[in-house]
Amino acid sequence: MDLNDRIPNNVNLSEDKRLQRALEKWLPNFLSWWHDMGPEGFQQKDVWLRTAVDVGSEGWAHFDYVKMPDYRWGIFLEPAEPDARVGFGDNLGAPAYQEVPGEFRNALRRIIVTQGDTEPASVEQQRQLGHTCPSLYDLRNLFQVNVEEGRHLWAMVYLLHGYFGRDGRDEADALLERRSGNPDKPRILEAFNQPCDDWLNFYAFTMFTDRDGKYQLSALAESGFEPLARTCKFMLTEEAHHMFVGDTGLSRVVRRTAQLMKQNQSEDVRRSGGIPLEIIQKYINFWFSYSLDLFGGEISSNSADFFAAGLKGRFKEQDQYTDHIAAEGSFTMQVADNGKLAPREVPLRNALNEILRREYVKDCEKGLARWNKALADEGLSQRIYLPNIRFHRHVGEYAGHCFDLEGNLITKEEFAAAKSEWLPTTEDREYVRSLMKPVTEVGKIANWIAPPATGIKGKPFEFEYVRL
Ligand SMILES: [Fe+2]
Ligand SMILES: [Fe+2]
Repeated sequence: MDLNDRIPNNVNLSEDKRLQRALEKWLPNFLSWWHDMGPEGFQQKDVWLRTAVDVGSEGWAHFDYVKMPDYRWGIFLEPAEPDARVGFGDNLGAPAYQEVPGEFRNALRRIIVTQGDTEPASVEQQRQLGHTCPSLYDLRNLFQVNVEEGRHLWAMVYLLHGYFGRDGRDEADALLERRSGNPDKPRILEAFNQPCDDWLNFYAFTMFTDRDGKYQLSALAESGFEPLARTCKFMLTEEAHHMFVGDTGLSRVVRRTAQLMKQNQSEDVRRSGGIPLEIIQKYINFWFSYSLDLFGGEISSNSADFFAAGLKGRFKEQDQYTDHIAAEGSFTMQVADNGKLAPREVPLRNALNEILRREYVKDCEKGLARWNKALADEGLSQRIYLPNIRFHRHVGEYAGHCFDLEGNLITKEEFAAAKSEWLPTTEDREYVRSLMKPVTEVGKIANWIAPPATGIKGKPFEFEYVRL
């Protein structure tokens, strides 16, 4: 792999002149999008970044100072497996699709475009955060996440250009035209139109929303469309760091709040410049519920079709299941029916969104356990938690109904009356924003967050991660 290539890759791009030309034509459009919508104010600074240079668990990344516009956004796929087969669905055991099967073309394009759209969207959402970083370490992590979301966009654009001809090229262009939060041309999924304008939002976003990405990519890493499976497997390697940033970021905020509560013998840490647990809880409620929506409806014929076609599997389909056809069996879930919750039995294939969502929830709970340990370590009895999966939903069975944090069906009026206790209010957001003053001295950190346990890649926290 040559870092000096215009488009570093491990897909023999130079042997496919037509594709290479198409991507080289898209490259300046990507750079102009990055210039307009990427991190604001730091484009000419040296940032200590990792760049993907290969696949595989060891030695896949190169760390050095880079100016972000000079970052090498490459195309990397995990190596092909010899004799790969479709691993689930109606075509179980057939040779894996190396080209797009005509009958699944629209479905596959939709899957790839929807995934692809989230990548630039998150960069847009986070573009102002650099101005208020709590430390150089955090600033670097923000930019690392941003450049890698850019690379994930490349990963999806490679598939669109490489496998979908004319309409793939059009979709690739449209990925650079939609804008997060823009009422006329919004991003496809709602979580990606929500503002992410303070660092508590950023950590909650990378914890909960990037983690949805992990589960979507894991389901697509099982895909019978082999180029997609191989692409997603490698994206997951990078995604792990994004979730680390969110998980440890929130953990550090909780720890610092706990320290301030203990020091002052008071739950109200506002006077000492901390973020009250109650506000942290509301941010969790907000981002967790929006991220749950990203899995789609509980009862979904799309999920059944994607599975039947061998396009999108279950989490760890090969490791966790023996029946890869899933044509029989059912899944029971609670749905709102005539003003009360009642169980409904759904054919298994139609419940796959919900099954993937439940895997995600289990993973999120592990994060909560880690954060609560920070509270316990400080000798505090308060705990934070995940709201019920029915709370504050905008997609699927529970949209259009109101639920409390425990998942009990309540009236619209009851919800409206309690909303300010459950979700961030304008005042909460303003308070959090008021704390967001940049700290850019090497080794220093803002008062509202604890420093990380270690630095990045063997470097100490006191390292000049960004040269300002
Ligand atoms: Fe991503
Ligand atoms: Fe990510």
